[in-house]
Amino acid sequence: MAQLSARRVALTGLRRWRMEARFADAIISNLLAETKLSIPDRGFALELFYGVLRNLTLLDFWIGCLRTSQVDVDLRDLLRLGLYQLFLLKTAEHAAVYETVELASKRQRPTINGMLRTAGRRRNELLSRAGAQPLFVRTSHPQFLIRRWKENFGAEAAEALCEWDNEPPPVYGRINRLKIDPEKFLSLYPESGPIERRPDFVEFQSVPTRALALGHCYIQDPSTLIACELLDPKPAEKVLDACAAPGGKTAYIAQLMKNRGTIVACDRDAARLPVLKDNIARLGIGIVHSFRHDWTRGRVSKEIASVAPFDRILVDAPCTNTGVMRRRVDVRWRLRPEDLIRMPDEQFEITRTATKLLKPGGVLVYSTCSIEPEENGHLVERLLNHFPQMRLGDETSSLPFRDHFDGAFAARLINTA
Ligand SMILES: C[S@@+](CC[C@H](N)C(=O)[O-])C[C@H]1O[C@@H](n2cnc3c(N)ncnc32)[C@H](O)[C@@H]1O
Repeated sequence: MAQLSARRVALTGLRRWRMEARFADAIISNLLAETKLSIPDRGFALELFYGVLRNLTLLDFWIGCLRTSQVDVDLRDLLRLGLYQLFLLKTAEHAAVYETVELASKRQRPTINGMLRTAGRRRNELLSRAGAQPLFVRTSHPQFLIRRWKENFGAEAAEALCEWDNEPPPVYGRINRLKIDPEKFLSLYPESGPIERRPDFVEFQSVPTRALALGHCYIQDPSTLIACELLDPKPAEKVLDACAAPGGKTAYIAQLMKNRGTIVACDRDAARLPVLKDNIARLGIGIVHSFRHDWTRGRVSKEIASVAPFDRILVDAPCTNTGVMRRRVDVRWRLRPEDLIRMPDEQFEITRTATKLLKPGGVLVYSTCSIEPEENGHLVERLLNHFPQMRLGDETSSLPFRDHFDGAFAARLINTA
């Protein structure tokens, strides 16, 4: 694998993504781990891989303009990669064509060469035809999502959201005050830039490997913290983080608790719990006890029950991820309308079971990184109907087109029993 070029890595990743039922992130990081690309080449491979995935409908529209007969899947992967470079990455035409032809088999070469050269000649026409296409083609989003976003937020916001999803996301880090204060962090890592009105956050141009290894920061979008802020945990309290892995919010909760008290961090995913443990250890946190638990199945284990009742519970529920689609690039291609029926049932069941462990007077925060009402406000209404003793406190959300961070939702419920 070691000799693969960035373009070959991207192409292999795209083929694997098409054939294997695996997340795009897992596919490309496994591939990169098997190769010895330089840092700029890794960046280029990622740009190509995610860039094509973000623009599938648009690239296929251009392929349809260039050839009306059937295009087989292998050829399509190459054409998508070539057209992405030609029209969206603005690579010089000769390089985009030559390098894509180099990736093709002998049999495919004449077709790829011919179609990409024609595309180059017809550049202005093809770009202007794309500009006249409906939003789902121009921005490569499923039509059912666009329809619901237009209904829920209006046409302008839906357009802004689709454009937002297609921008490569910035790398934000939360400074871990348990190990370092922001002033010292900025002087130690001059490559980091402060973010307006977010003193605990910085922006990086690339992944800050050293700061991460030392536990000085954690890669996180500022929107993820609204749930922890509503939870408002205090030192010495007992907190349940019901869906905790990989531990981003657990770590911030521990910081708010000044690393004093008890956090029980649960997750049903056996593979994600070691990542949580590793993160917690690196960030210098000593109050987290992690357990594997599925809130939709079986009884609560003795270890969890023995700490209950909890002062505060966070349910950062699994969701459709529609607020973080610029980071989770393939989400849009996996989501189905029926997920908006299935997910709320799961979210309700998880929260219903966890709520039973809340002490009288305690606070439960329900949160998602979705922007869909079924998973947010409607779900909270359902919980309030089910638990008459729970009262709604604050409710807050982050919307990409309004707040310019990832989408997120959090509601604070108080147990008045
Ligand atoms: C949104 S993620 C949590 C992110 C985490 N709070 C953080 O800030 O890093 C949702 C998590 O819920 C877990 N999960 C999904 N269904 C679950 C269930 N039924 N019981 C427990 N955990 C579950 C998933 O494995 C996933 O790690």
